[in-house]
Amino acid sequence: MNVLLIGSGGREHALAWKLAQSPLLGELLIAPGNPGTALLGRNVPVNANDQDLLLEVARNAHIDFVVVGPEAPLVAGLADRFAAAGIAVFGPTAAAAQIEGSKIFAKQVMQAAGVPTAAAHTFSSPADAIAFARLSKRPWVVKADGLAAGKGVIVPTNVTTTVAAIEEIMATSAGQRVLLEELLVGEEVSVLALCDGKHLLPLPPARDHKRLRDGDQGPNTGGMGAFAPAEIDEETFELIVRDLMQPVVDAMAARGTPFRGALYAGVMLTAQGPRILEFNARFGDPETQVILPLINGDLLAALAACAAGDLGNTELPWASSAAACIVLAAAGYPAAPRSGDVIQGLESVTDLGDVLVFHAGTTWESPSIVTAGGRVLCVTGLGATRRTALDHAYEAVELINFAGMQFRRDIGR
Ligand code: AMP
Ligand code: GLY
Repeated sequence: MNVLLIGSGGREHALAWKLAQSPLLGELLIAPGNPGTALLGRNVPVNANDQDLLLEVARNAHIDFVVVGPEAPLVAGLADRFAAAGIAVFGPTAAAAQIEGSKIFAKQVMQAAGVPTAAAHTFSSPADAIAFARLSKRPWVVKADGLAAGKGVIVPTNVTTTVAAIEEIMATSAGQRVLLEELLVGEEVSVLALCDGKHLLPLPPARDHKRLRDGDQGPNTGGMGAFAPAEIDEETFELIVRDLMQPVVDAMAARGTPFRGALYAGVMLTAQGPRILEFNARFGDPETQVILPLINGDLLAALAACAAGDLGNTELPWASSAAACIVLAAAGYPAAPRSGDVIQGLESVTDLGDVLVFHAGTTWESPSIVTAGGRVLCVTGLGATRRTALDHAYEAVELINFAGMQFRRDIGR
């Protein structure tokens, strides 16, 4: 099977790494990929949002199967384009990707399906939202309706900061509707599952660290590190899949927009039980970099089964070990990441058996590999326990360096 993988982040490097282990794989193309994916397949310099050119590449290279990594192309209908061209694709249609593309749509689906989630109110004007927040006399989580590349959510602590958050969100996502959501408290867990439109095949639960600095300080980022499996008992995990995710899968199918792809539930474990914070229509980043190393079995076969609409008896057994990843971010991340800093030490970690270094924002600048994005590398450590996985990851991090490198020292602690 010739596969075209779309995207260029750490998630896509991890997907390429896992797909390359499949006996079903013929040629692997990655568009646009990064210096890490280039070691596993052939990078083609086509932007993930250039639908026409991606289709042309797929036809010319006799691609049998497309795997879409990021959300923006999915929301823009890339999976629909490939399907219309008769090429099998892993990733939801634009209509099904609305579960991530519109937080208001997602909230409506969850409420109609009776899925526990934070109570929410929708506003189309900032004035109405502000008036509501002032009247209520308590803080609300402020969310932009549409995709905002991780910048669409602000969690205020009081009414004044809620009002400021509404103004900020409305200014940065002009013309969009805004959601005011009940502020929930608890530990977070990311539960990802493969979905064929009807059934879910859950993957090991993961924990992401969204804030830039140690102790959950600093601005929100795309994710500064993760570990898997997350600390969650089996009963709660099963409840999340059965009562929080499956009803949404059923509702999407009943609407005539079945969800086929990776369904990512962002869950908060509150004192009243688990609540959905958000759904994503794709694999998480950096969750994928700790989940895939813990999966045994053929990922390519499982993704193809999802795309065909029948997971059937597909199994992806979980390893009993642990994985942890540390994100190495560029100077200035997340506000204004700097590019062009030379990365040193990559060759010294290639031989470490318990470490996988996934590239994200990197590029070649002969004879070096240099920074070219906010999250630069994702260093995954493996071990029998989370502690040893973390030790392996941090030992490797010590060997890598670039000017202005930022990372958290408290992942998984
Ligand atoms: P989201 O993109 O919706 O997952 O939001 C990003 C982050 O904001 C989440 O990972 C949570 O840490 C936080 N968050 C989102 N919704 C809520 C909520 N209703 N209550 C408290 N924190 C939230
Ligand atoms: N790690 C958060 C996300 O992928 O959305």
